[in-house]
Parts: sequence; C-alpha cells; structure tokens
Amino acid sequence: MRPLFKLIGTLYLAVVLSVQQGDDVDVDSYVQSETPIAKAGVLANIGPDGALSSGAAPGVVIASPSTTNPDYLFTWTRDSSLVFKALIDQYVSGQDTSLLGHIENFITAESIIQQVSNPSGTLTTGGLGEPKFNIDETAFTGPWGRPQRDGPALRATALITFANFLLSQNNESFVTQTLWPIIQNDLNYVQDNWNQTTFDLWEEIDSSSFFTTAVQHRSLREGATLATTLGQTSLASGYTTQAENVLCFLQSFWNPSGSYITANTGGGRTGIDANTVLASIHTFDVNAGCDATTFQPCSDKALANHLVYVDSFRGIYDINADLGPAAGVATGRYPEDIYQVGNPWYLATFANAEQLYAALHTWTTVGSIEVTSISQAFFQQFIPSITPGTYPSSSSTFTSLTSAIRSYADEFIAINAQNTPSGGGLSEQYSKADGTPVSANDLTWSYASALTAFQARGGVFSNSWGAQGLTVPSSCVPPSTSENPTVAVTFQVDATTVFGQNIYLVGSVDALQNWDTNTAMLMSVENYPIWILTVNVPASSSIQYKYIIKDGSGDVTWEADPNNVLDTPANGALATHDTFRN
Ligand code: NOJ
Ligand code: NOJ
Repeated sequence: MRPLFKLIGTLYLAVVLSVQQGDDVDVDSYVQSETPIAKAGVLANIGPDGALSSGAAPGVVIASPSTTNPDYLFTWTRDSSLVFKALIDQYVSGQDTSLLGHIENFITAESIIQQVSNPSGTLTTGGLGEPKFNIDETAFTGPWGRPQRDGPALRATALITFANFLLSQNNESFVTQTLWPIIQNDLNYVQDNWNQTTFDLWEEIDSSSFFTTAVQHRSLREGATLATTLGQTSLASGYTTQAENVLCFLQSFWNPSGSYITANTGGGRTGIDANTVLASIHTFDVNAGCDATTFQPCSDKALANHLVYVDSFRGIYDINADLGPAAGVATGRYPEDIYQVGNPWYLATFANAEQLYAALHTWTTVGSIEVTSISQAFFQQFIPSITPGTYPSSSSTFTSLTSAIRSYADEFIAINAQNTPSGGGLSEQYSKADGTPVSANDLTWSYASALTAFQARGGVFSNSWGAQGLTVPSSCVPPSTSENPTVAVTFQVDATTVFGQNIYLVGSVDALQNWDTNTAMLMSVENYPIWILTVNVPASSSIQYKYIIKDGSGDVTWEADPNNVLDTPANGALATHDTFRN
C-alpha cells in the first residue's frame, strides 16, 4: 500500500474504533493501566502511611477517605479482610514480597481490634460481630446494623492464608504464637454463632445471609485443617462438626423455582443480590471442580444464579439500555436498592467477570463443560440450541462456549472501564443514568475487586481451601431461627474405655436422637479420656442426655441414672464437663 493510503487507512480505522468505543473498549489496555492504579489505591487507604488515610493506625484499612455523604472514614472488618486477602495472596504467591510490612501491621491491628469492647460486646460476649471501628482502633458507638457475622470469617480466611504460607516455609513459631490465637478467636466465634441471625453484608437486613453463611463455612473448613496441622485436634473436630451443619444450611438458600440463590432469609425482597456472586468468587476453590454443594463458580446453580442476577439489571439502568440482551452490563447490589438512588457498583460488576474467569479456569482444568437442566438457560445465552450434556474440551461446543463466555466476562470489565474516570479512580458506584462516579470516592474494596478480577482474567487464583469432594451430610441440624432458636453445646465427657469401645451421646430432643441408641452420635476422642462432640440443641430449654458405651458388636452400656440435665440459654454457646458415671 502506498504511504498516503496507508495513512488514510489508519486514520479511518482509528475513527471507526473510537466511534465503536461504547461496545469495544480495549479490555487488555484497561487492565494494564488500571492494575497499578488499583494497587496504589488500595495502599493509599492503609495506615499509617497511606496517602489518603492519615490518622489510621498501622495496618488499619479505611473503607474510603470520604467523610461526608457518605462518611466511610472507618474500618470495616469485612472490607479490610477482603482487601488483605487479596494482598496476602499476592504476597504468598511471590508476586509482591514488599507487602510483608503491611501484612504484619494488619495482623497487629486486627489483634488489637478484636480486644476492643464495643456495642456488640467484648471478645468473649459477641464483640467480634461488630462491623466497623474508628480508624484509631477505638469502638464506633453510634447506631448501626449490628452484628455482622461475616467479618470474623473473612478475617480468619485472610490470616489462615498467611499462616499456611508460613507453615510451608517452616515458620511455625509465628503461626502458633501470634496468628493462631487471633484466628482461633474468630473461628470460635463462627463456630458458636453461625446459626444466629446477622445483618447482611449490605448492613440492612437482619436474617440469615448466603454470603455470610458461605464464608463462614469456608473459614471453618480451612480452620479445621490448620487446627489439625497445629495439633489442636479437639478444636478441629468442633470446627468440622459445625462446618457440616453450615454446609447443610447453605443448601437451603437455593430457590429451585426461581433458579437463583436467595441472598437473605428475611428482608422482603426478591433475594436476587450480588451477595451470591460475591460468595461464589470468595469461596472459589481451584480444586473443587464445578461442585454445586459449595456453589462453585462453574456449578450449575452458580451459573443459573449469575444469569438471573445480571438480567435483573438490564432494564433498570439507563446506561445498560443500549447494550444487547446478552451483553455484559453494569450491575449493583440488588435490583430494589435505593441507597444513593440505587446504582451500579464497580465491585459487583467486576465480580460477574471474576466468577466467569474462575469458571473458565475450572472447565479448562477438568477438560469439559457440563450443561444441566439448571444451567441450560445460562448457556443458551451463547448457544441458543444447547442441550444438557457433557462437552469435552476437544468438542467445538466447548471451544465456542469458552470463547463466548470469555468475551462475555470481558464485557463486564469493559463497562466498568468505560465508566472509570480518567485518572482511574474507583468510587463505590457510578451513576445508572450517565456513568459518572457516585458515593464514596476511592473505595478500597472497589480497588481490591479490580485487582482480583484482573488476576482471575490472567488465570491467577488463590490456593485451595478444602472444598473438594465435600458432600452434604444426610441429617442437617436446623439453623437457629426466631421460631426455632438453637445454641451450640460442646459435650465433653471423661470416660475410660477399653479397646473396641466408643462413647456416644443421646438425649431427649431431636438433635440428640430422642434417646434412640441406634442413631446415638459418636463422639470424638482427641485427648483421651476426654470425648467431645458439638451439637446444636434448642435454646431456652431443659434438655436431658446421657453418654453410652457401644462395644465392637454394638452392645450398649448406659451411663448410670439419673439423666444429665442441661438448661440451655437463649443464645450463644456452652460446653459441658461431665464424667461418665459407671
Ligand atoms: C449505610 C450502609 O453502609 C449501606 O450499606 C446501607 O445501604 C445504607 N447505610 C442504608 O441503610
Ligand atoms: C456499605 C456497604 O454496603 C458495605 O458492604 C461496606 O462494608 C461499607 N459500605 C463500607 O465500604
């Protein structure tokens, strides 16, 4: 081509490209330019030296420097833990070893905050459920939606990630002396309180919440594994017992007729909510395949949910109006949201992409895509005629689906990119009418959500947490509800046995098998002769129980009379210290 034509051709192309910008933002270049901005945005909001966080104690993460409409110059345990999880992942993967000082500061800050008496209580009376603190680590005492029981779980997950790394480096002393006591506080709180109601992550609804339950489950599983590694077997057993109960309860959020995950058990809304997509990305396990038990990103339930959630925003935001019916769009917390008039959130829109990148990673790892009747509608967005079946990676269907889904994921990044102001700052929301930034500026969580979505796009994911192969227990302990409140009781009995004998627990309520010795519950022995088992039993009740010995052939020896009696409180948790009466 002659130079002049070439120049004209290039100009023409440039014009066409810029005209098309609306639906053709260059995602690669956005990721490239926004990554350092997001990283710097996170670090600017961490005390003591962050550029936007003066007054914050070392390791304290401010939610945003905004002090009016809204005032976010506080530290939320949820935001801080999610942010530090992202930083700890970068550290342990060797991507950024300069983060160590921040991580150490964070550990110190959280160890201090855990001890601060606050309107939710003290360390041992519920204070860990307090959602936010002043940035000098004192209690925030104003009215607020409290408690919020996702915070301790998310903090445990962040710290466990760091602990596992240190153990892999043979640095056990820092783990046992410094980290484990902090982690244990959080895990004990989760173990004892998961079945109490909680304000949801949006701080509005007091009921049970899918996000909270999902992250609690995760923390108990990885906590049990860490406890076992550290030789804390009786703690591990308690965490596992409750993890099983939580996993059971988690299933109840699935709404089969609506084909989505109901975010909250209360609140009087549809329950279609970013809560569920966030849960899916923050409990992603690279080794768990497309398991629906834990709602993995590529599970049929999580994909069906993604469809329903995203679709609920197509018609309600002007900025989505010109995008096609199957395009990635801007999404917010939940369609009924009116906070700041109800707009798209960067972190919610990034999460849509991140779930799909995680799904793509797993499909590639397992070598196939399974379409079920539950996920069929999700896949029909890309291949309208697709039918349930397993499509191996050698098939053209697999290739078409993965390429279409990757483009779809990129479109969520693209709409955030289009609505990122020059300079790259990420606020909490952008206007549903015209895309201009709304609400808190420089939201730390927005930046962290960009970083994790970009990592996922590049195929970089966190370490596995133990979701692989989990199954739902056959009998579920009912969660505590206002109609059916329960408390967690850790039964402990000192019982000397001979080889072949085991101790079982049985008692006067359903949760204790109504005195049926055939279904009595096997206790664990970690610290012989102490046998231990945690069970959720009715609150505010007088309960009778006994320990029994079963020998190798199943013959039962009852504990001598009278029955043990336990009067349970209205909420909380307790432990018994019994001695087997021969
Ligand atoms: C402030 C909370 O942070 C936000 O999540 C909530 O929507 C509003 N208060 C209204 O309750
Ligand atoms: C309001 C959000 O709803 C809540 O999830 C968050 O923790 C706080 N803002 C602080 O960012």
